[in-house]
Amino acid sequence: MPIADCPRAKTYLKELRDRLPGPRVTHSIFTAEYLSSLSGTLCLDHDEAVTAGLLHDYCRDLQRETFLEEARRRRMPISESQLEKPALLHGPLAAELCREQFDITDTVYEAIYWHTTGRPGLGRLGQALYVADFAEPGRKFQEAAEARQLLRKQGFDAALRYVAAMKVHFNRNKPVIDPNTEIFLLWLQKTTG
Ligand SMILES: [Fe+2]
Ligand SMILES: [Fe+2]
Repeated sequence: MPIADCPRAKTYLKELRDRLPGPRVTHSIFTAEYLSSLSGTLCLDHDEAVTAGLLHDYCRDLQRETFLEEARRRRMPISESQLEKPALLHGPLAAELCREQFDITDTVYEAIYWHTTGRPGLGRLGQALYVADFAEPGRKFQEAAEARQLLRKQGFDAALRYVAAMKVHFNRNKPVIDPNTEIFLLWLQKTTG
C-alpha cells in the first residue's frame, strides 16, 4: 500500500519539508515506505506505520542546547547519557512534539520515542520502526544491506536481533552509550528466536 494512502501523509510531508534538510526528508520517506511494506506481514496498522516512519526524525536537526531546553520545558525525564549527548533526545522529543501537533496515537508515540535505542517490551510498531530506520533502502552501508537481506530470507525477528547487535557494536568505543541500547538487545535475545 503506498504511503499516500495515509490520509495525513501530505500534511506530514509539508511539515517535514519546512523543518528538515532534504536528505533527512528523503530518509523519512524511505523509512515510511519500508514500514508500509512490512505492515501487512507484521499486522501493523498502515496509517500508524506511515505516520511513525514519516515523523520519527521530526526533531533530529535541533541544536544541542535546544534539545535540552525543549525537553526541560516539557518536564521530560533526561538521562545521564542524554545530558552528555543531547541528540539522544531526538526520539523522545519528536514523540512529544508530534503528539502536541498531530495528535498521534499512543502506539506511534511509543515507536517514535524509542526508535534510536529500543527498550525491553517495545511493541511491534516500535520494533519495525527501529529496523526500518536502520535498514531503509537509502541506507548504503553494508550492515543495512545485510539487515534487508536477513529480513527477506530469515524473517523480521532475525533482522531485528541483527540490527540491535549492530547498534551495540557501533557504539562499543563511543564515550556515551544509552543503556537501553544494550538492554534491548539482551531482551530480544531472551524473548525471540
Ligand atoms: Fe532518529
Ligand atoms: Fe531516522
